[in-house]
Amino acid sequence: SSASIKLSYAHAILGPTKGFKVHMPWIRRGQQVYQQVCASCHSMSLISYRDLVGVAYTEEETKAMAAEIEVVDGPNDEGEMFTRPGKLSDRFPQPYANEQAARFANGGAYPPDLSLITKARHNGQNYVFALLTGYRDPPAGVSVFSIALKFLLQRKFYMARVIVLYIAERKIREGLHYNPYFPGGAIAMPKMLIDGAVEYEDGTPATEAQMGKDVVSFLSWAAEPEMEERKLMGFKWIFVLSLALLQAGYYRRLKWSVLK
Ligand code: HEM
Repeated sequence: SSASIKLSYAHAILGPTKGFKVHMPWIRRGQQVYQQVCASCHSMSLISYRDLVGVAYTEEETKAMAAEIEVVDGPNDEGEMFTRPGKLSDRFPQPYANEQAARFANGGAYPPDLSLITKARHNGQNYVFALLTGYRDPPAGVSVFSIALKFLLQRKFYMARVIVLYIAERKIREGLHYNPYFPGGAIAMPKMLIDGAVEYEDGTPATEAQMGKDVVSFLSWAAEPEMEERKLMGFKWIFVLSLALLQAGYYRRLKWSVLK
């Protein structure tokens, strides 16, 4: 909204303002979901704590949040590495040391970095929302099996075989979860959003759909933090250029017409 943009302009010009209101509460809620639910497996390596200032948290809140993590820094004057509390310029922490460790912890699957996930997947925002809220039981084998039986009785062996193969395909491997929105239908990530998984400080009921929407808002913002300002700028340009067009039209028609 334009109110939020005004605030971030003021922020850019005047520097951090004490005690200003957080103006995008849905991004704040989404960050909370990422932090409390997703961050144990997924990194967001392109985002620093300072990116949150003025968007979802005040500077003080963000500093306090960053100070909760431990960052390996160095070498110091003695040439040694050391750990220190995080600060605003630090990136979000990585949940695993490397890809091998991540795969080891997740049955061979690799939880992708989420910084750009809404851009990296086709129809990203809708896809991620559908994926997170789309877990369900695999199609009931029994009803499909009864169709196969029907074909058998009708001596349509080819069709019966197709159906039996379909059932065999649909059996979900140990450690995978059925999700029709994931390509292939079997995903290593378990269902993560369960009603009440987080407790929102603004009192919003933390339903599965609400958390899904909030975390997708957060991920979309993270993939394109400058979007609101860019679109506002585009709107201003179009507005001013259309005024210029009117003026040019007026001059051509009424002022310069005698020169023809
Ligand atoms: C995959 C989002 C929590 C483990 C994914 C994908 C997304 C995603 C978008 C990519 C699917 C694709 O490749 O198209 C999220 C979000 C979470 C969350 C928004 C929080 C709400 C978790 C947690 C774990 C986890 C807590 C670990 C227990 C994985 C794994 C994959 C994955 C292992 C790879 C799946 C595969 O390749 O089969 N997640 N995730 N995720 N996630 Fe998560």
